[in-house]
Amino acid sequence: MEPLNVWDYERLAAERLSVGAHGYYAGGADDEVTLRDNVEAFRRWRLRPRMLVDVATCTTATTVLGHDVSMPLLVAPVAFQRVAHPDGEVAMALAAKAAGTIMCLSTLSTSTPAEIAATEAPRWFQLYVFRDEGMTRDLIAQARSGGFGALVLTIDAPTRGNRERDVRTAFAIPEDLRIAAFGRGGMTPQQVFDEVSPSLTWHDLERLCSESGLPLLVKGVLTAEDAKLACEHGAHGVVVSNHGGRQLDGVSATIDVLEEVVEAVDGRIEVLVDGGVRRGTDVVKALALGARAVLAGRAPLWGLAVDGEAGARRVLELLRREILSALQLVGCSSPADVTRDRVTRAPAAR
Ligand SMILES: Cc1cc2nc3c(=O)[nH]c(=O)nc-3n(C[C@H](O)[C@H](O)[C@H](O)COP(=O)(O)O)c2cc1C
Repeated sequence: MEPLNVWDYERLAAERLSVGAHGYYAGGADDEVTLRDNVEAFRRWRLRPRMLVDVATCTTATTVLGHDVSMPLLVAPVAFQRVAHPDGEVAMALAAKAAGTIMCLSTLSTSTPAEIAATEAPRWFQLYVFRDEGMTRDLIAQARSGGFGALVLTIDAPTRGNRERDVRTAFAIPEDLRIAAFGRGGMTPQQVFDEVSPSLTWHDLERLCSESGLPLLVKGVLTAEDAKLACEHGAHGVVVSNHGGRQLDGVSATIDVLEEVVEAVDGRIEVLVDGGVRRGTDVVKALALGARAVLAGRAPLWGLAVDGEAGARRVLELLRREILSALQLVGCSSPADVTRDRVTRAPAAR
């Protein structure tokens, strides 16, 4: 039977991928408490629909940092997509383009920024900052010349999370898959991980904002304190993210800290959130708690693993339809209509 939802794609992807590759994508850090909680936390929030609202003309379209998107869901940066499917990031970009949304390309991508630019997909570039300033500058130059609309600076990875699934399966990124932005025959993935700078601070943010000339979002904010610092240091947006539970285990589910960040930002910049999004109703809950949009990492990745571009496109289309239906059923005609009163915390389990 044709897969009906993200869960079906997740199951099929688990069948298609090798145990090692599946563990790489599905896994998280340490005991995977945060990985599981990202998904479970959405169930601790309940929708409060309003009835007898005319939703005959309902749209999922919105804007994010001034970019038009068909829905408040973007494709999160996920490394090494050719491990999931030979067409990798190019297929994901084409799927995002067909779905009318933005693809965020990882620094650790198996396609070059120029190859993604050639798809003409709406695109942002996720940036890791390296010890070697020249490497960082070169990446920013590739993002600029490739027409990427924003930089997404990931700040939750001064060191790599402890991913024990990969150790148990002895998984390693295949040697022939190089990080494309650094050129053929360049550094191995491990060498690149080791080059990510552990000394990045908020002051660097100001410099990156002014030097890059691109709008900059900070990805990995989990507290009001850091949300305020992001505003004060010139970020144009923040992404509430715990890296899909892959970095520091034991932090809160992102949906549970979203409101704290939204309140701290106080409308100065846009707030996005990622982690655990599997259903259109998850997206509507995030909108109600103040997010402009969500990013989805694993959901479209499972589609890519199952059926390349077509699979990723279908997952994005399923999610768009689910968002549309959730908006109508909750009594809203557009993402902008979703106000705080549309969610409440579920009663505590007894
Ligand atoms: C296999 C994998 C690789 C990832 N690679 C990156 C990356 O290179 N850069 C980054 O900022 N985030 C990366 N992330 C985190 C995602 O951007 C996003 O925060 C996370 O996947 C959201 O959770 P979800 O998968 O439950 O949607 C990765 C996530 C996964 C699952």
